Amino acid sequence: MKTPLIAPSILASDFANLQREIEMLNRSEADWIHVDVMDGVFVPNISFGFPVVEAVKRYAQKPLDVHLMITQPERYIETFQKAGADRITVHYEACTHLHRTIQQIKDAGCQAGVALNPHTPVFLLEDILEELDLVLIMSVNPGFGGQKFIQRTYEKINRLSELRYTLNPQLLIEVDGGVNAGNARKLVEHGADVLVAGNFVFSAESPEVVIADLKKDAAL
Ligand code: DX5
Ligand code: ZN
Repeated sequence: MKTPLIAPSILASDFANLQREIEMLNRSEADWIHVDVMDGVFVPNISFGFPVVEAVKRYAQKPLDVHLMITQPERYIETFQKAGADRITVHYEACTHLHRTIQQIKDAGCQAGVALNPHTPVFLLEDILEELDLVLIMSVNPGFGGQKFIQRTYEKINRLSELRYTLNPQLLIEVDGGVNAGNARKLVEHGADVLVAGNFVFSAESPEVVIADLKKDAAL
């Protein structure tokens, strides 16, 4: 049986009640807490920075999965680690020296991931896949929650699954954007291991129930 890991994205949570939201995630079946950092340059939106990550860490009993949608992320890796990141994912499109940045994340003691925008083909990761703990496939254009899932994502997961089979069988495939009860199972069938969900979880009347159902219904 393959049960996906669920990583609710707090971008869709109630920031005015962040402690309550984190405590809800602690009680829930969520595996990781997905933390979306946006700088207004790499993506056309600004979310939050270090003080908020630190505040989340103070209450979180689950690993922080930090998704950096920022340019030159290499400037801030150590600061995010100190703020409480357990996993740090940088964008392929934002890194000139990706190999060095991945090394930096590992040297800081974190798990290292690379995110791909919808237009970036997975074969571009061929020469670095062995170094990675996870690849995050964006199934919407990064910057906002609540967008429509891009169907092409399934094909990208297929191709990444083939690549990891020979290069890095331990690699986790994470899918982020527009994930809901209608596509979760199919994503896992294609090879996804981690499902990020923002609006689908936090707009529900009972997010805890939605998280538990998503996990159960997407299990193969
Ligand atoms: C988008 C972020 C996502 C977002 C997902 O740029 O990376 O993590 O919060 O939100 P939903 O699940 O609402 O698409
Ligand atoms: Zn994200």
